[in-house]
Amino acid sequence: MDNQVFVMDHPLIQHKLTFLRKKETGSKEFRELVSEIAMLMCYEATRDLPLEDTEIETPMGKAVTKVIAGRKLAFVPILRAGLGMVEGVLTLVPAAKVGHIGLYRDHQTLQPVEYYHKLPQDIEQRDVIVLDPMLATGGSAIDSVEIIKRSHPKSIKFMCIIAAPEGIEAFTKAHPDVQLYCAAIDERLNDIGYIVPGLGDAGDRIFGTL
Ligand code: PRP
Ligand code: URA
Repeated sequence: MDNQVFVMDHPLIQHKLTFLRKKETGSKEFRELVSEIAMLMCYEATRDLPLEDTEIETPMGKAVTKVIAGRKLAFVPILRAGLGMVEGVLTLVPAAKVGHIGLYRDHQTLQPVEYYHKLPQDIEQRDVIVLDPMLATGGSAIDSVEIIKRSHPKSIKFMCIIAAPEGIEAFTKAHPDVQLYCAAIDERLNDIGYIVPGLGDAGDRIFGTL
């Protein structure tokens, strides 16, 4: 495996992913699962945040303990489906700022079409984690990271739930400096660019627009 790609195979994530994939899972449960998986993945993706010493006083006396070393995070969901991951990651890092990138895939060409972006003003001081449940051809992820790179954040990571091998290959080629976190790498894309076995259309399942 490419050392840029991390598969989060924790049993809790894998268990929840099974229910996320099931076609009979309705929007309410689907949204809850996306949020919970995003929270668990965020826990792993922030494992390398640097710590520094701080002196505190417990009821028993003085102690030197650890706090996160002044690093600021920004989450950037790709609309629409990435929105489903925001609540979960903010549960762990409530002080993070949230930017947005609006892209949709043209159904004929499968090329991403940008319609919106707004990023935190102080993004140059922040480590960014981009959120989108699905990495299929990789086009949306590649373009989103390009848009974010123009604002020069300190670093960028990309967090998706399911990735296709084709998307991983394209993404790691386009952005070899960006770490990619996913919960599963599926078999392939079908002839209309959907991930197989995947979970269907993530945006439609989150927002009930099937
Ligand atoms: C989905 C998904 C990704 C994109 C992945 O969004 O959430 O953003 O497709 O496909 P790609 O890797 O081939 O670019 P979609 O375009 O369906 O938009 P939506 O979230 O607004 O439904
Ligand atoms: N977007 C989705 O929502 N699902 C896929 O399988 C591919 C792209």
